Amino acid sequence: MRILIADKFPETFIQQLKENNIDVIYNPKLGEKDLPEAAKDVDCIVVRSTIVNAETIEKGTNLKLIIRAGAGVNNIDIQAANKKGIPVSNCPGKNAIAVAELTIGLMIALDRRIPHNVIDFKQGKWNKGEYSNAQGLFGKTLAIVGFGNIGKEVAKRALAFGMNVYAKDIVKVEFDGVKEFSNFEEVLPIADVISVHLPATSETKNLFNENLFNLMKNGAIFINTSRADVVDEDALINAVKEKNLKVGLDVFKGEPEEKTGTVSSKLQELENVYVTHHIGASTEQAQTAVAEETVRIILSYVKDGTVINRVNKK
Ligand code: 3PG
Repeated sequence: MRILIADKFPETFIQQLKENNIDVIYNPKLGEKDLPEAAKDVDCIVVRSTIVNAETIEKGTNLKLIIRAGAGVNNIDIQAANKKGIPVSNCPGKNAIAVAELTIGLMIALDRRIPHNVIDFKQGKWNKGEYSNAQGLFGKTLAIVGFGNIGKEVAKRALAFGMNVYAKDIVKVEFDGVKEFSNFEEVLPIADVISVHLPATSETKNLFNENLFNLMKNGAIFINTSRADVVDEDALINAVKEKNLKVGLDVFKGEPEEKTGTVSSKLQELENVYVTHHIGASTEQAQTAVAEETVRIILSYVKDGTVINRVNKK
């Protein structure tokens, strides 16, 4: 079995694969354009956010399995995989804690304006007067949109902070201390914080549009650590300008595929918008859990052809 790992992956787990007689090609610098050539004769591709397009799948004459070492599979052309009957698997829930930790971090950062505090300090400016204006999270209302593995980890942490937590999902919300809501009209007008944890699908595309932003309170905190596609970015920018929304994003339109380089976005001009570098899943704890699951998927496939966590149809 030959495997191409085209994104950063912990060394210990590469060793574990090799000890199981798996031929591993490890090239974390590959991008979407390099993959068709790099993956043309491997049996399995492992990626994080690197795009596996239709050309890569079509040219992969030996390809038998594609693994997303993470949760979201929107970077893999599932239709092309279906056409060739190639299973696509992911590692659901394995990086949920890390994403929830970043979500809570953004909430506190926005409420206390931590990045602004630090920048001013480094520039020699003292402004206790200005930065003493925070709300605090205790007793505040949080609306979680998308209550899967990540939404639930956010809820646990928010409850521990004494927040009043509401959640909405396509399946029934059953979670101690969390109130289910079905209509945005019910909860967005009372929410102090809205946090989005949805996959990118045709149903969620631009879900957060002008109508939903209009329902939100002036000055509310809006956080998206899921996918850029679920937000109409122009509508978000208008809401920041008109309603003084405070925004924390780990994902945005035009996010670079490369791991380093330059970045340009309309969001850079907005004072109260904090954008992180799509690092929600990037903790050692999460990447160890994801790598463990990836190895489990590979070894199961090698052993008897069983595909664990398959996300596409057979
Ligand atoms: C995911 O879908 O698992 C997260 O967005 C993390 O993506 P990454 O592995 O590219 O950091």
